[in-house]
Amino acid sequence: MPRWFLPAFALGVGAFSALAATGALSPLSALAIGAAASAAVLAAITTREPAEAPLPLPPLEANDPAPMPPGAGQVLLARLPTPILLVARSGRVYYANPAAHQALPRLETGSHFAHLIRAPAFVEALSATLSDGDERAVSFTLHDKSERFIEARVALLPAGSAFGLEALALVQIDDRTDARRAEQMRSDFIANASHELRTPLASIIGYIETLQHHARDDPAARERFLGIMAREAGRMQRLVNDLMSLGRIEMTEHLRPGEVHSLEDIAAESAAALVPMAVQDGIDLQVRLDPGGTPVACDPDQLAQVFTNLIDNAMKYGGAGGTVRIARADPGKASPGRVGIAISDSGPGIDREHIPRLTERFYRVSVTSSRNKGGTGLGLAIVKHILNRHGGRLEIASAPGKGSTFTVWLPRADTRASRRGA
Ligand SMILES: Nc1ncnc2c1ncn2[C@@H]1O[C@H](COP(=O)(O)OP(=O)(O)O)[C@@H](O)[C@H]1O
Ligand SMILES: [Mg+2]
Repeated sequence: MPRWFLPAFALGVGAFSALAATGALSPLSALAIGAAASAAVLAAITTREPAEAPLPLPPLEANDPAPMPPGAGQVLLARLPTPILLVARSGRVYYANPAAHQALPRLETGSHFAHLIRAPAFVEALSATLSDGDERAVSFTLHDKSERFIEARVALLPAGSAFGLEALALVQIDDRTDARRAEQMRSDFIANASHELRTPLASIIGYIETLQHHARDDPAARERFLGIMAREAGRMQRLVNDLMSLGRIEMTEHLRPGEVHSLEDIAAESAAALVPMAVQDGIDLQVRLDPGGTPVACDPDQLAQVFTNLIDNAMKYGGAGGTVRIARADPGKASPGRVGIAISDSGPGIDREHIPRLTERFYRVSVTSSRNKGGTGLGLAIVKHILNRHGGRLEIASAPGKGSTFTVWLPRADTRASRRGA
């Protein structure tokens, strides 16, 4: 190894790390400056010690820069988790780090970058940076198998840097698709929640006005309108409660539940609390669970909410006079080490197309039917988030005319763990 190599490496890496760590520069600028610094040190040292001049490079073909010299630059780029491309003036991809190959599977070193990214904004930014040396940021969409939203930053590595003799464009690729999707979901959620609250609120305000004017001296109308207002206010209250539960559950989703309880006992207690509703609607609520049951690591209040939401749905959508059955699910081969509780109803069932979407917030097969039954459209979303926190999952089996079965699968608690709550 030549003697200039280590100091050049150290200074390049030092400059890169210090600048990136202070946040004074973007990692891209820091990297470019780090590389330039390595080159400067390399040049200074090699001038002083001509005996250690680098080996002669192979002759260059037109538009085809020499391969990137091994060393600090390449090691750094290869380790960076961010996809990085170095593009030569000819437009060829001179180097791509492993993260770039992973992000862009069609990427081939040596081929023209436009085979990969044709977006006019990107092409323009790349050419402009190669000619004026200014750093640029561009956003564009890539259409592979699905649409991907990309933010790219382009900077110039001047000719003779540690990365090669030619000036190169250093491109940092940031796939923002997931962040974009999350933003979209968030704004859809706010729009949906506002809409769900606005409808009952508008109805309540309308009835208040009617009571203040036309219906002022009509006791029969007043009674009827107050009944409707109470129902609409109740709907708003349920919605606000569900929104608050969802918020709380999301905040704890990363925390592992710390207590150990019997899953069967929690399910049976939730069912017992719903007996008055079953009696009122003439529903045959059958609980077929052994007491004692299977220990699971859980937050018992959250699991009780899961069973309450599922049994409530089974009774509401299964219809008056139906049967709702709560029993241990057959563990089968699909869920080794897991325990399942199935809630089955004898209702109308659900069309296949709806099943994968039922746990989305505000997704309902029939909005009118859900509203008439006092639904908010958030019950199954709450179930899904609670089960995520518990390392479990919800399985839905249903077909029109054949009823529905919602099965809660949870990992069995490690029996060596202390039984704190059971
Ligand atoms: N047991 C069931 N039988 C038929 N449809 C159901 C059942 N459970 C849930 N659904 C459907 O899933 C939708 C979403 O359920 P949920 O998230 O609990 O919201 P909500 O009950 O407030 O409408 C319901 O509106 C209904 O269309
Ligand atoms: Mg519900």
